[in-house]
Amino acid sequence: MKKGMIKATDAFERVVHWSLALSCLLLCITGLGMMFHSFNFIGDMMGGLRSLKYVHNFAGLFFGVALYFTIRMWWKEAGVFSFPEDLDWIKVAGGYLWHVDKVPEVGKYNPGQKAFFLAVAGFGVIMVLTGLIMWFPLSFPAMLVRWMFVLHALGFVTIFAFFFVHLYLGTIGSPGSAPAMFSGWVTRAWVKKQHPKWLKEMEEHGTLVVYGEEKKPHGHTG
Ligand code: HEM
Repeated sequence: MKKGMIKATDAFERVVHWSLALSCLLLCITGLGMMFHSFNFIGDMMGGLRSLKYVHNFAGLFFGVALYFTIRMWWKEAGVFSFPEDLDWIKVAGGYLWHVDKVPEVGKYNPGQKAFFLAVAGFGVIMVLTGLIMWFPLSFPAMLVRWMFVLHALGFVTIFAFFFVHLYLGTIGSPGSAPAMFSGWVTRAWVKKQHPKWLKEMEEHGTLVVYGEEKKPHGHTG
């Protein structure tokens, strides 16, 4: 770890994020294996369709727990839009789609990230609820169960599409992001570029943790 790196995430945040991410990926893969004949080889690799379904269902329960902690942990910072700055950011698409001289500064998460969080939170809950009903189809009216299949597929398409954008922006699309999810330490330049307002807030509140430096007493901005 280099001196001057900034702590962006703590261990709990990283465990929750990876639990959500890995269970979500396993669900996508096993779900595809059940849905399409051309992906049936995934079931063959897991000992047949019956065990594939078990892996999917229990990964779904794990995902549900991870989702609960994700929502509890991030909804304040990523689940609520703050105006007018978020609207100003949306008007220029965060500077991602065309050249913008100065991208409006927003809180810890930008509106794009908030949209992703809300999609994962909203559709995640739908996936768990519809999945549970589909797990015990004979306990519910047939019409309800049929609608659950439709909603489950819709949730999959939405989360799967968002996931690729998230994967790109969390890695090569915005270099320096991935360490936030591995070690938790990022460069000051990355925080300044990605979360300038958050950096200022942490400096003002004395909550900024810098590698190799004593934590500054409250109120000192250095
Ligand atoms: C496996 C590949 C993944 C990588 C490399 C990755 C990377 C990241 C990074 C770097 C951040 C922090 C961004 C920042 O602070 O600016 C983040 C946040 C987040 N990740 Fe992931 N992630 C992955 C998978 C997932 C999956 C599968 C989900 C959900 C099902 C997910 C949900 C979230 C959420 C909700 C946030 C916080 C808010 C946001 O950025 O929208 N991640 N991820």
